[in-house]
Amino acid sequence: MIQPIIIAGGSGTRLWPMSRKLYPKQYLALAGEMSMLQETLKRLEGLDADPPVIVCNEEQRFMAAEQMRRMGLEDVTIILEPEGRNTAPAIALAALHAVQADRDPLLLVLPADHLIDHQQAFHAGIQNAQVLAEQDRLVTFGIVPDKPETGYGYIRKGESLGDTGFCVSGFKEKPDAARAQTYLNSGDYLWNSGMFMFRAQKYIEALERFQPDIIKTCKAAMENGSQDMNFIRVDKKIFLTCPDDSIDYAVMEKTDAAAVVPLDAGWCDVGSWTALWEISAKDDKGNACKGDVLALDTSNSLIMADSRLVATLGIEDLVVVETKDTVLIASKDKAQHIKSIVKELKARD
Ligand code: GDD
Ligand code: MG
Repeated sequence: MIQPIIIAGGSGTRLWPMSRKLYPKQYLALAGEMSMLQETLKRLEGLDADPPVIVCNEEQRFMAAEQMRRMGLEDVTIILEPEGRNTAPAIALAALHAVQADRDPLLLVLPADHLIDHQQAFHAGIQNAQVLAEQDRLVTFGIVPDKPETGYGYIRKGESLGDTGFCVSGFKEKPDAARAQTYLNSGDYLWNSGMFMFRAQKYIEALERFQPDIIKTCKAAMENGSQDMNFIRVDKKIFLTCPDDSIDYAVMEKTDAAAVVPLDAGWCDVGSWTALWEISAKDDKGNACKGDVLALDTSNSLIMADSRLVATLGIEDLVVVETKDTVLIASKDKAQHIKSIVKELKARD
């Protein structure tokens, strides 16, 4: 049986100022009517799977629960982290929860901040991944790149594993522009989508081997945690001692059981304002506008007005994002670096 795990605890700082610690991007309807978390759950419809488990931050619990309720999903378990420790511990908590009662389901790990256009192709990819995960492989979904994107990790394809996928011969997390171009030209690389499939127990074993402190801490935090209704709370004091690491660094780069399933399903991580501009509907000058916007003599820009009229004149290739208390104006090609504004602001606090 497939157990979907939705990891939704990131803070989405590259989409500041709309995405905030208390209201990160996965809970926003940036690209449609539904939030990205809701889209992620909707994408599971038609799949033979258990009710999903969400792992998110304690502070996000009402938002997550309310968004579930609005979708009529009452049976979703929500594991709450007192503070994020990155994806390796988040998935460890879900894996430990899943193996209780002698079960060892196949975990389908999905970040809550992705868009996928073609649901059928996505489900076909899951079927391929299932074949390899049942052979005890740790499977990642790899996207065929069409540009030298620097916001994603890259996976080098290894030996073929038949019709379903490939062994992984190397992971390269977020390369610089020149390296990304070389990867793209070679045809040997896929983007790491950050979506995974494996047996819960296989992931736990991999952590025991490569990052024993993470699994030890997560186990203790779960054992000393509590449950009320659908919320599972881990022990705060213990969890805060957990090392911070991503699944990519902690496990996928180290294991020799990694496999990659190519996926061509119109995938996109709405990780930056440029990414949002790329996937948005645009006018004939290439502008993507949301809210009360007047764009004159303006081209190839993303303009988002949240609470006021935003008027632009004679600009190109800019990101303009207005919220109640902040205005961001950035060059579109610097959108990957918005994190540095958030860092600077944090240092000022
Ligand atoms: N519960 C929980 N706790 N979720 C988390 C935490 C955490 O501490 N940290 C991150 N997440 C969630 C985020 O909400 C997001 O859905 C997902 O995990 C991935 O985190 P990001 O912070 O968005 O990672 P990234 O986009 O920079 O990089 C990863 O994804 C790329 C593709 O989208 C890497 O795996 C890259 O290699 C990959 O290309
Ligand atoms: Mg992301």
